[in-house]
Amino acid sequence: MSLRVQKNCSLAPHTTLKVGGEAAVFLVVTTKQELVEAIEYARTASLPIALLGSGSNVLVVDSGFPGCVIKMDIRGRVVEDHGETVELSVGAGEMLDDVIAYSVENNLWGIENLSHIPGTVGATPIQNVGAYGVEVKDVITRVTAFDTSTNQFEVLNNDACAFGYRDSLFKKEWGKKYIITEVTFLLSKKSNPKLTYTDLQKHFATEISVTQQKIRDAVIGIRSQKFPNWHEVGTAGSFFKNPIITSEKYTALLSEYPELPGYMQGDGTVKISLGFVLDKILNLRGYAEGNVRLYEHQALVLVADTGATAKKIQLFAEKIIEQVKNKIGVTVEMEVTSL
Ligand code: EPU
Repeated sequence: MSLRVQKNCSLAPHTTLKVGGEAAVFLVVTTKQELVEAIEYARTASLPIALLGSGSNVLVVDSGFPGCVIKMDIRGRVVEDHGETVELSVGAGEMLDDVIAYSVENNLWGIENLSHIPGTVGATPIQNVGAYGVEVKDVITRVTAFDTSTNQFEVLNNDACAFGYRDSLFKKEWGKKYIITEVTFLLSKKSNPKLTYTDLQKHFATEISVTQQKIRDAVIGIRSQKFPNWHEVGTAGSFFKNPIITSEKYTALLSEYPELPGYMQGDGTVKISLGFVLDKILNLRGYAEGNVRLYEHQALVLVADTGATAKKIQLFAEKIIEQVKNKIGVTVEMEVTSL
């Protein structure tokens, strides 16, 4: 076997929250063949498997993972030219922002609004990563994944991925058998700016020529105001999902909180801004307990300072969820996944 087996490997440095225990075994895979070998290794050793990308959306518990953590590091980009569009197939281990920078350099439109989102390409379909008016479901044509139940690689088209808000097939129990190895994006050679998101609308209100680079720069500028630098502190971006509630419930909330932002989902439900609820209704922006806090510039973002543990983060998050429930009767889910 060509893989290097690391035993009792601390996972905290492999995540942006920078907390949590050890993996019994840690394997880095750089090819599809190595992935197959890693799975065989775990099976032979009767160890459960967990996948890790760059760890930007994961909370590792303090007791760690008593199995085999496979870090996805398959790279590579292939471009198929279709005239006015291209399909860009990217290895799951590539960093999303590197791919966005490449798309901007090559005038390939579609993912520039997702600039500076941390994380690997392979993680993006799992929670249908989105920001500033674009979700990856809008540009993904297919996902290649290893089906651990059949030991075959499979190609899933966009419909098969069953994308929803921060949701997909890969988050469902029956979808967890898949390990994503490649994602194919459909990008446009023709200018196609997406400026519907309020922050971008404001930014480009007086701009005559909108280029991809200008959108990328604007998004990076907006994000730098709202998100802490994960190189400096522990964070996983938005820690909670924005809740989706019925339109009746939204109407009732509006009578008490007329400013509460809500976005119609097209099926009679409404997605409300939890950041607003935490900040303007519960006054929790910047609220801290020990080494854990809600970020001063964006209440949906949790910050774990040096000394924080997964347990402290979990207890803090549960308390926040309870306060929202008590105040406005809405159930909140974590956006970050636990390992
Ligand atoms: N708001 C406040 N106070 C706050 C935070 C937000 O009043 O402390 C208000 C804002 O003024 C705005 C609304 O709440 O009216 C929404 O805030 P924002 O535009 O910052 O977006 P968000 O809903 O908090 C979502 C995504 C982010 C994404 C942004 C921009 C989720 C869970 N989060 O945040 O995605 O960058 O929209 O599109 O859907 C991520 O998933 O990690 C992530 C960064």
